[in-house]
Amino acid sequence: MSLRLIHPRELKPPETAPAPARMRLLRPDEVRTTNLIAETARAFRFGPRISPGRAPYEFYPTPPEATRALLAVECFEGSIWEPACGEGHISKVLLEAGHLVVSTDLVDHGYGEPARDFLGEQVALAKHIVTNPPYGRGLGDAFVKHALHLTAKTGGKVAMLLNINSLCHPRRHAFFVAHPPSIIYALDECVCWPSGDPAQATTTIAKQRYCWVVWNRDEKCATRFAWLSTRAVPTKSGACAA
Ligand SMILES: C[S@@+](CC[C@H](N)C(=O)[O-])C[C@H]1O[C@@H](n2cnc3c(N)ncnc32)[C@H](O)[C@@H]1O
Repeated sequence: MSLRLIHPRELKPPETAPAPARMRLLRPDEVRTTNLIAETARAFRFGPRISPGRAPYEFYPTPPEATRALLAVECFEGSIWEPACGEGHISKVLLEAGHLVVSTDLVDHGYGEPARDFLGEQVALAKHIVTNPPYGRGLGDAFVKHALHLTAKTGGKVAMLLNINSLCHPRRHAFFVAHPPSIIYALDECVCWPSGDPAQATTTIAKQRYCWVVWNRDEKCATRFAWLSTRAVPTKSGACAA
């Protein structure tokens, strides 16, 4: 048997030619940020940094005046859990105001109880949850959802310091509609420096704008929006005096 080369004209086309790929716009629920995570173990699997530009373990401490501003307008009756306490920037202000505070963190920053992964906690350690959570790659979302889940049993409030941009996002839209906060406080001046060190700041961090987002189970009305200044001097007794 002799072999011969086949001329391209002799090749049969495939029986069912694949349809040419069509481009289309993604629906909002199909938009994903790369490598989203909802668990701490996966988040920090490759080391303390989620990405090269981020602070180790997402440590961006909250300036005390941001928490003082929150306490001037929100009343927390009963104990408060700061579940990502870092060096205690929020906890110390809460204690100063006379609250009973439980402080935990995944990492040992020299304050509170370390080695407590908030996302692995099964029960709330206090009635309310107040924190500035780690944000990177979906951790902030996981914190908000877990805090709401845990406080469903305590009836407490959840107050989260969030990047105000994060409220307007196709990936979060359905969540906020299903779980509307009671109030959003837009803060005027607040910068959470990486590891508390302005020298390590990227330009994006200095431009970031923050808000306190509060979920209060006792309030069933539509989400309110208010402006809150970190420069105002709060009364000593804060919102609970009202
Ligand atoms: C944005 S910093 C804020 C620290 C503190 N809440 C404050 O406001 O100053 C986030 C903190 O989350 C902690 N953290 C990261 N993942 C955590 C987890 N899974 N459970 C508990 N803490 C975590 C980090 O160690 C860091 O202290």
